[in-house]
Order: sequence, then C-alpha cells, then structure tokens
Amino acid sequence: METIRQLDEMQARALALRTEGKRIVFVPTMGYLHEGHLSLVRAARNHGEVVVLSIFVNPIQFGAGEDFASYPRDLSRDSALAAEAGVDIIFAPEASQMYPAGYATSVHVEGITETLCGASRPGHFDGVTTVVSKLFGIVQPHSALFGMKDFQQLAVIRRMTVDLNLPIEIIGMPIVREADGLALSSRNKYLTPHLHQQALCLQDAIRMATDTALKGEKDAAAIIALVQQRIQQEGDTRIDYIQICNAKTLQEVTQIDVDAVLLLAVHFGPTRLIDNHYLLTPFN
Ligand code: PAJ
Repeated sequence: METIRQLDEMQARALALRTEGKRIVFVPTMGYLHEGHLSLVRAARNHGEVVVLSIFVNPIQFGAGEDFASYPRDLSRDSALAAEAGVDIIFAPEASQMYPAGYATSVHVEGITETLCGASRPGHFDGVTTVVSKLFGIVQPHSALFGMKDFQQLAVIRRMTVDLNLPIEIIGMPIVREADGLALSSRNKYLTPHLHQQALCLQDAIRMATDTALKGEKDAAAIIALVQQRIQQEGDTRIDYIQICNAKTLQEVTQIDVDAVLLLAVHFGPTRLIDNHYLLTPFN
C-alpha cells in the first residue's frame, strides 16, 4: 500500500491507471477508520483492481461550533487498518492543497439537502458535495462506495452524480454496528460509557418501530410517537429529528410502505448521532 499526499500526484497516478485499463474503486472517508469504513474497503475489492481510500477531514462541511478541530485524526493507525483491509492507495491531501488561495467553487444540490441533517446543519451538504466532486476529479474512480449510515448523504451524492453526468457507479453499503448494536461512527469515541449506554435507545427505538410496522401499523405518526417516547425515556437526550421518509425522495410520508425509512438524529451530551432503518425490513 502506498500513501499519496500530493493532489497532482494522485490525479496523475489515477489517469495512468485508467490508461492501463485498471478499474479504480474509491472509498472517501474522513479517517479514524472503524469497521464501517473497512466494510466499504472490503466490498470495494469486488468492484475493481485498484482500491483508493481518501482520508481528509473536510473543513467546509463542518459548521461554526461543530467538531472540526477536535475530530479524531490518526494517520498511522488508519494506515495499518487500511493496509490490512486491502487498500492499495491512501490519498491524504492537505487542506491547503484542496482549497488553495483563490478557491471559489461550490457544488450545491437543491431539494433533498434542505431537510433532515441539511436543516440542522446548514451548508453541510454543500461542503460534502463540493469535496466529493473534487475527490472524484482527482481520483477518477469508476465506482465509489458510501455507507447507508449517512442515508441522506448517499441520496445527495447519487443525485449529484446523475445531475452532473459523472460516469461513476455509486454503491451504497449497509450500516455496520458495534456488538451492542450502536451504529459505528468515528464520533462514538466522544461518548462516555454512560452516554454510550444511553445511545443504545436508538436501536431499541428502531427495533420497536420495525416490529410495529411489520405487524401492520401503517400510520407513520403513530410509529414516530413510539420512537419519540422510547428516546425520551433516556432523560437528558435532545432529539434533532425523527422522521419517516421515502427512501428515494427523502420526502416525509404519512403511510408506511416498502420504501419507508425511519431516520433519526439525537444528541447525547455534546455528541450528535444519526441512525436509520427501512421500516419493513426486520431489525436484528
Ligand atoms: P466518514 O464519516 O468518515 O464516512 C466515510 C464513509 O463511511 C461514508 O460513506 C459513511 O457513510 C461510511 N460509514 C460511516 N459509518 C458507517 C457504518 N457504521 N456502517 C457503514 N458505513 C459507514 O461521510 C464522510 O466521512 C464524509 O462526509 C465524506 C463522504 C468522506 C466527505 O467528506
């Protein structure tokens, strides 16, 4: 495995690989790798010959007062994990190369960026779509893998890729959870044992919601009320949103069908966690 830090070098390598007829598969991340990221890398191996993993804590997708400065970073730990999981090239650019003086372009997807996480994190998705467009231009992938953990992000990237006619296959991968069921996230590192324990209410709530939907409850409001009640049992949590949306449009639905996804964002102490699940799919 090799690590490339220079943007020009990464792009030149990618173009050379394409000329040789190699398929490039790309996994963009912000690092501090966990099994969720590594599941994307392992799956990437099945989609092409060269797996590129980017590690870049993208400043423009963090709002004022968010955790950009404290976001966990550990390139040597990440390198060991990436090598073991089968990464060929780590691309870890500096922010000064990604956004040099005079940088002036932003990519904005309308509509589906305005609800859910987009409503509570204004500008966040512009930061994501801008950096992912740039990374696509640098890494020149044939395919790119994203986790369904960030359900809205995946939908936004799919929309952008279609709208900008990018010849890149976007592959969505299932959520990887800790043994106790908490969805893996680099931000879980911020949770004290007490908050971690509290955060398990997310999956309890998801399980209750799916069980209820699978038993035939069709009314989205009734399911949301159950979820809210379960999360509020934990006391000092702060709910950002609990919504049931159509998986493709991310519009809220009133009736449950196969495309209905429950999406949650809840603060546990200073840490905001997200989770989601298709309501008519059993939750183990
Ligand atoms: P990051 O949070 O590091 O996540 C990188 C990728 O890993 C994303 O596609 C995310 O959905 C996926 N992922 C995270 N936790 C997961 C889990 N528990 N199971 C499955 N996949 C999981 O998402 C970002 O970085 C950034 O916004 C990025 C796309 C890199 C742009 O900066």
